[in-house]
Amino acid sequence: MCGIVAYLGDKDVQPILIEGLKRLEYRGYDSAGIALLSDNKIQLAKTAGRISVLEEQLNEKRIPAKLGIGHTRWATHGKPNTVNAHPHLDYTGKISIVHNGIIENYTTLKKWLIKQGCTFQSETDSEVVANLIGYLYTSGMSPNGTNHHDEQNKFEWAVQQALNELQGTYGLAIICSDYPDMMIGAKKGSPLILGVGDNEYILASDASAIVEHTTQAIYLSDNEMVTLTSEGFRTKTINNVSVNKDLKEIEFSLEQIELAGFDHYMHKEISEQATALRTCLGGRIDTKNARVVLGGIRDQLRGLTMTKKVILTACGTAWHAGLVGEFLFEQLARIPAEVEYASEFRYRNPVIEENTIVIAISQSGETADTIAAIELAKERGAKVFGVVNVVGSTIARMTDAGIYLRVGPEIGVASTKAFTAQVSVLTMLAIELARRRHLSNEATSTLLEELECIPDKIEPILAQSEDIKKIAAANIDRNNWLFLGRGVNYPVALEGALKLKEISYIHAEGLPAAEMKHGPIALITDGMPAVFIATKCSQYEKIIGNIEEVRARGGKTIVVATEGDENIKQYADHLITVPNTVDQLQPILTVVPLQLLAYHAAVLRGHDVDKPRNLAKSVTVE
Ligand code: G6P
Repeated sequence: MCGIVAYLGDKDVQPILIEGLKRLEYRGYDSAGIALLSDNKIQLAKTAGRISVLEEQLNEKRIPAKLGIGHTRWATHGKPNTVNAHPHLDYTGKISIVHNGIIENYTTLKKWLIKQGCTFQSETDSEVVANLIGYLYTSGMSPNGTNHHDEQNKFEWAVQQALNELQGTYGLAIICSDYPDMMIGAKKGSPLILGVGDNEYILASDASAIVEHTTQAIYLSDNEMVTLTSEGFRTKTINNVSVNKDLKEIEFSLEQIELAGFDHYMHKEISEQATALRTCLGGRIDTKNARVVLGGIRDQLRGLTMTKKVILTACGTAWHAGLVGEFLFEQLARIPAEVEYASEFRYRNPVIEENTIVIAISQSGETADTIAAIELAKERGAKVFGVVNVVGSTIARMTDAGIYLRVGPEIGVASTKAFTAQVSVLTMLAIELARRRHLSNEATSTLLEELECIPDKIEPILAQSEDIKKIAAANIDRNNWLFLGRGVNYPVALEGALKLKEISYIHAEGLPAAEMKHGPIALITDGMPAVFIATKCSQYEKIIGNIEEVRARGGKTIVVATEGDENIKQYADHLITVPNTVDQLQPILTVVPLQLLAYHAAVLRGHDVDKPRNLAKSVTVE
């Protein structure tokens, strides 16, 4: 949700910012811009549309500079047009900022600044930050009465004073035309990482824009700011207290964020799921001793085993993984579990009793709603565990302990490999808790052996990609689809529908198959596609009944069934098969064909799969 990249170093900054913005484009892509500091003047270039549009514009105008800031936007306040695009300049033209987050008190600040004589160009909340810094810089007077004095660096002083007036969230990079060798970054609630290279610094919203230059990084914490010059950098809190930050190694390589011959990141990420899950499960399953080894929560396992209730909280696809987790905690570990939309949880005054454990699931580790839910859970005294992909992300750092997904960067906006990994991690945890509570070693071993085979079982599903594409093509003109599953495959039905909606803009509903007759069956018309997950499981016969109900009303059935199931063929207009496995592990397999179905449908409809309309990968605003 908005990407920031900023550079100070000895290289030509313009191409570096453009490359960085391309890497961050999945965070938002409705408008983009850069500001360069050259000859003590700030030069702006911004436009509505994608980075490619900005790049084309800039081909005609190359500005030599060693310092600059860039932004790719996902609009919150104000339409995605050129005026609202970042960077923003202050009313004096000396200060320029890029911002990720929301300034909640911007209307109050804006009124006050207008009274002081500042002028505004855009409808954004972010321009207030530029003008506030500009006003403080020009006047040397702060609203709290702490005026600037000569020994202080005036730019740094103005930024620090301004940050203390802001309510809401921000990741900021700021430059000032009077300081051609200085850049300031600040963070509160939105991610900001500083890459430290040889004679160069890159500030960015995430490591993907940094890793091309350096693997050494500093993760800023909330309410911290960093001042960079060619001589070095200093970090302090926004209350002017110095902080020492350790350099950390960025744990992924440039290759992992390249397309590697695929047309889309989503396709690449679907296709690498077998390998990704081998890494996710690797070294964590000890079938011989019937144990799961989860290093990140080793010290917390006793508490987890004794817990009275688990609350899983997340958003989007991660919430669907949570629904699978709920099933597993109850079925396997016999621990009461519930799943909460993070965005609802914090406003419901939830009952969190002693001995309740909260598990927050998030690919990015930066989702604002999930962060807010964790804060509330902690306030109420709960232990919070994270199931997170991005190492060092906000959620990874703020939780008491956690389990990383270890599937490498996920760039496609529609989450795929993160889902199968989230489910795999929750499965491992549920099995280990079940073993510690009541499950025999023998039964544990059987489940673990099955889980270990899951990556291999994904391969034959991926091999059906071309057949699945034909199924998508045969139904591509249909604008309403149903996805139906029962038991642990019900969340998969929800996920299949979400995938289709978000990238192909086809209306789809996911339902527990038996619920269909209580309303949605009214939607079924001749030829309407209904995707059934009808694998061999305890509810197999029941779901066949549901398929019959759809066929009787003219619906077209696309059935995901177990390999070798001859009986199911008579019920399927289109058949996709998955290898056999135990009920509890089925979601990791059954979701894969649905990801492929959505992917092919979106490509056939001519959509930009990796950058779906109105969406962003990492939703860092509430
Ligand atoms: C956005 C993305 C989804 C993702 C959700 C939660 O809506 O488009 O793909 O599932 O955020 O993101 P998280 O990073 O917390 O898993």
